[in-house]
Amino acid sequence: MFDIKTVAVLGAGAMGNGITQVTAAAGYTVVMQDIAETALENGLNTIKKSVGKLAAKGKVSQEEADALFARISTTTSLEEAVKDADLVIEAVPENLELKMEVFKRLDAACKPGAILGSNTSTLPITSIASATTRPQHVCGIHFMNPVPVMIGVELIRGRLTSDEVMDAVVAYVKQIGREPVMAVDYAGFIVSRLLDVLNNEAVKCVMDGNKPEDVDKAMKLCCNFPIGPLALIDMVGAEIVLHGLETLERDLGDKYKAAPLLRQMVRAGELGRKTGRGFYTYND
Ligand SMILES: NC(=O)c1ccc[n+]([C@@H]2O[C@H](COP(=O)([O-])OP(=O)(O)OC[C@H]3O[C@@H](n4cnc5c(N)ncnc54)[C@H](O)[C@@H]3O)[C@@H](O)[C@H]2O)c1
Repeated sequence: MFDIKTVAVLGAGAMGNGITQVTAAAGYTVVMQDIAETALENGLNTIKKSVGKLAAKGKVSQEEADALFARISTTTSLEEAVKDADLVIEAVPENLELKMEVFKRLDAACKPGAILGSNTSTLPITSIASATTRPQHVCGIHFMNPVPVMIGVELIRGRLTSDEVMDAVVAYVKQIGREPVMAVDYAGFIVSRLLDVLNNEAVKCVMDGNKPEDVDKAMKLCCNFPIGPLALIDMVGAEIVLHGLETLERDLGDKYKAAPLLRQMVRAGELGRKTGRGFYTYND
């Protein structure tokens, strides 16, 4: 019933450009949209660097790289981006009001059979879907960061999402070489619900006097984590982690109350890699 050929990705940030890359690499036509022209330029540059690295390792030929870029177009207009889309993947900032406003516009602009996906890390899909008149077509498609590297994609069925939509997104995720993981629609799903407790506790360890290097080293060398929790917060963005904790606290209780240090770092603009400073400093 759902034949996905054209995909619109909303937001060209850390997640949006990665989703655009892996989707175009699998042969789909992709329109990447952002409100900021500079974000589209940065997004395309990030894809170029990422594909360049794959080409240097011999994992992608020059012809494949050229074909991948030929399948990507960009625009700052949401309506233009989604007019032919069979699947929309929203990756705008983690803010419920903003996402609901975007989904309201999608409802008006998308063709009747389009699937409307959100890459939200924590916000219940049923809330986002309530901004539309077609909640049966809305679902969560939660990619992990960095998208070109991470294989698991959490798929979330809202309370009213149809079986056919879930089948179609499972097929899309497999088509792009990823593995779907099904999760129930409560705040944080599976990944953020578990990870945010750990990450928040890692911030409290720093407040107690532990050095970030020691916290991360302990979890890497003693628990075999591929990356320490504080380096992960820097990679994800402290404001995204804080927003996730606030959503989880609202829906699931006090154990998700954000560590004061995390809140203070967000106020200071120490968001991690994207601002050059978080628990660590970055010069690249
Ligand atoms: N960063 C992560 O590790 C991570 C992981 C999984 C999921 N997510 C989720 O993905 C979403 C995006 O996160 P990100 O890290 O890519 O954020 P980001 O800040 O890197 O990028 C967001 C982009 O959205 C653009 N934008 C803002 N308002 C817009 C609008 N109305 N329409 C179109 N574009 C708009 C911004 O200009 C920016 O380029 C969030 O919901 C976040 O929770 C993030």
